Amino acid sequence: GKSGYDHYMLKEIHEQPAAIRGCLRERVEELTGSIELPELTALARPARVQFVACGTSYHAALYGAQLLRDHGIAAQAFLASEYGADRVPVPAGTLVVGVTQSGETADTMRALREAAATGATTLAVTNVVGSSAAREADHVVYIRAGPEIGVAATKTFASQQVALAMVARVLAGSETQSAVESLRAIPDGIQQVLDESLAREVAETYLGAEAYFFIGRGLDAPVAREGALKMKEITYKHAEGFAAGELKHGPLALVTEETPVFATITGDDDAVAKTLGNVREVRARNAPVIAVTDRPETAGADATHVLPVPPLGRELTPVLANVQLQLVSYWSANLLGRSIDKPRNLAKSVTVE
Ligand code: F6R
Repeated sequence: GKSGYDHYMLKEIHEQPAAIRGCLRERVEELTGSIELPELTALARPARVQFVACGTSYHAALYGAQLLRDHGIAAQAFLASEYGADRVPVPAGTLVVGVTQSGETADTMRALREAAATGATTLAVTNVVGSSAAREADHVVYIRAGPEIGVAATKTFASQQVALAMVARVLAGSETQSAVESLRAIPDGIQQVLDESLAREVAETYLGAEAYFFIGRGLDAPVAREGALKMKEITYKHAEGFAAGELKHGPLALVTEETPVFATITGDDDAVAKTLGNVREVRARNAPVIAVTDRPETAGADATHVLPVPPLGRELTPVLANVQLQLVSYWSANLLGRSIDKPRNLAKSVTVE
């Protein structure tokens, strides 16, 4: 059942600290700073990695690819439905990673099979034990989020991010004590976000808007896309999420005082400064800005509202920022009386191409 929550989605948002603990269990060792993924021991360090995924899982794949690149491995994320057309050649030494919660998504399965047919090694990062992806891939890493009933993916996205953060460090051989400490701090960090009610207040304030924008740079860019996807899925409102730097290349034309802009602002000083430049651009058009940030005093100074998150370092703070956006979407949809757990036209698992 829903354990007293009005919706499975809210229950699953609140299950995230436990889901992440499950994902990390027996995989991280604080004393030595090692990350244990026995599932990957048979795998040589890949020359390059191609991710294939759809929807929310694609956003996790974008995050995972960027982490791998940060650790020195060439990596790209592809939409599974476009993999045939977009795929660059798959030379020897390529690892193809299918990120799929259900393990049954038709587009992702087709992409994995095509990759396997070219001789690539495949890895499934999935939630469902014994799923098609788990059975067919050469290697499997389970995200261990537990069953997700709400159609909108929430805890499974956080668990995918955490699993991919571990996979990236293991493949690159860049496990460190501080990385392990940050991973172990995620559940408490999420709990702090969940204990506040600021997201609900923001949802109420901007409930009348017809469109919402989400921006973020670097590891915050996938969070911006995911924030917009969640918002459109469950509120049926127009929402767009993109890399902050793209704003002035088109979307800025749509920004008025009626378009709330959610700016996720974490990361290093340079990235923060650039995104704050984008914030000033939209503030100059009188658009309200909701800053989701681990540095509320500085990065939140020009914002209309601030949704703070505890600082967990460059790699993992975006996981916490996403939780604030989940809550804003949830409360917006709730106040609008939407069918949150079963949005119109959508299915939990998409088994046709
Ligand atoms: C969005 C959502 C979908 C799925 C997508 C892929 O909330 O749930 O976008 O992420 O259909 O599904 P999986 O991960 O099962 O392959």
